[in-house]
Amino acid sequence: MEIIATIRDMQSKANQLRRDAKSIGVVPTMGFLHEGHLSLIEVARSISDVVVTTLFVNPTQFGPGEDFEHYPRDQERDESLAEGAGTDILFIPGVNEMYPEGYRTFVVTEKISSVLEGKFRPAHFRGVTTVVAKLFHIVKPHQAVFGQKDAQQVAVIRRMVEDLNMGVQLIVAPILREADGLAMSSRNVYLEPEERKSAAALYRALLYAKDAAGRGERDVTVLRGEMMTILDKEHPAAIDYVAFVHEETFDEVAHLESPETLAVLAVRFGKTRLIDNIIIPVPPGEHNES
Ligand code: PAJ
Repeated sequence: MEIIATIRDMQSKANQLRRDAKSIGVVPTMGFLHEGHLSLIEVARSISDVVVTTLFVNPTQFGPGEDFEHYPRDQERDESLAEGAGTDILFIPGVNEMYPEGYRTFVVTEKISSVLEGKFRPAHFRGVTTVVAKLFHIVKPHQAVFGQKDAQQVAVIRRMVEDLNMGVQLIVAPILREADGLAMSSRNVYLEPEERKSAAALYRALLYAKDAAGRGERDVTVLRGEMMTILDKEHPAAIDYVAFVHEETFDEVAHLESPETLAVLAVRFGKTRLIDNIIIPVPPGEHNES
């Protein structure tokens, strides 16, 4: 595995690969890799000739008072995990390389960036779209693999890629979970043992919604009420939101009608904020008569 730290070297490598007619697959990450990240690298490995994993804790997507300084980091471990999962090139730029003195340009995807996660983390998606656009210009990928874990991030990036004609094929990989259902996340290390146990309620609430929808429940108010009860039992510090949205627009729905609906939620235990989601299958063309 080759390690590249400068934009210039990464771009000339990408140009060379493209001249050699190699397809480039990129997996953007902020490091502290877990099996969820590794599954994305494996997907890229299966579809692209050359797999570039990027490791950059992006300061512009963290709000004031968020965990940028304390975000978990372990580069040595990440290097060996990334290589083991099939990475050919690990791109690890420094903050000054990505945002040098005088940096002024940001990419904003409107509307979809201001709801749900965007409401609770106002500049978050502006930082995500900016860094992903930069990474796409640096790595010049044909394919990019993202996790369903961050469903709104996928929707925002999909919109950006289409609106700005970036010509990168997006592949979305399923959520990897711990044995009790908690979605894997670099931030899970922040959880105290009691909080870690309680955190399994996120998936229980999501599964409840999926099962109830499977039994024919279509009223989002009913579903959300029961999900809140499941979450409240664990006494979280806050439930930021529980919502049902269209997976591409992230517009909230009051009634389950479309086959592209997601149940999404964000819950805090102690100082740790967790997000999760589940796809709610509704037969296409079904209309509720009531
Ligand atoms: P990070 O949180 O490190 O996640 C990197 C990628 O791993 C994202 O696409 C995320 O959805 C995916 N991922 C995280 N947990 C997962 C899980 N349990 N199962 C499957 N995939 C999972 O998301 C970011 O970094 C950043 O916002 C980034 C896109 C790199 C831009 O800075």
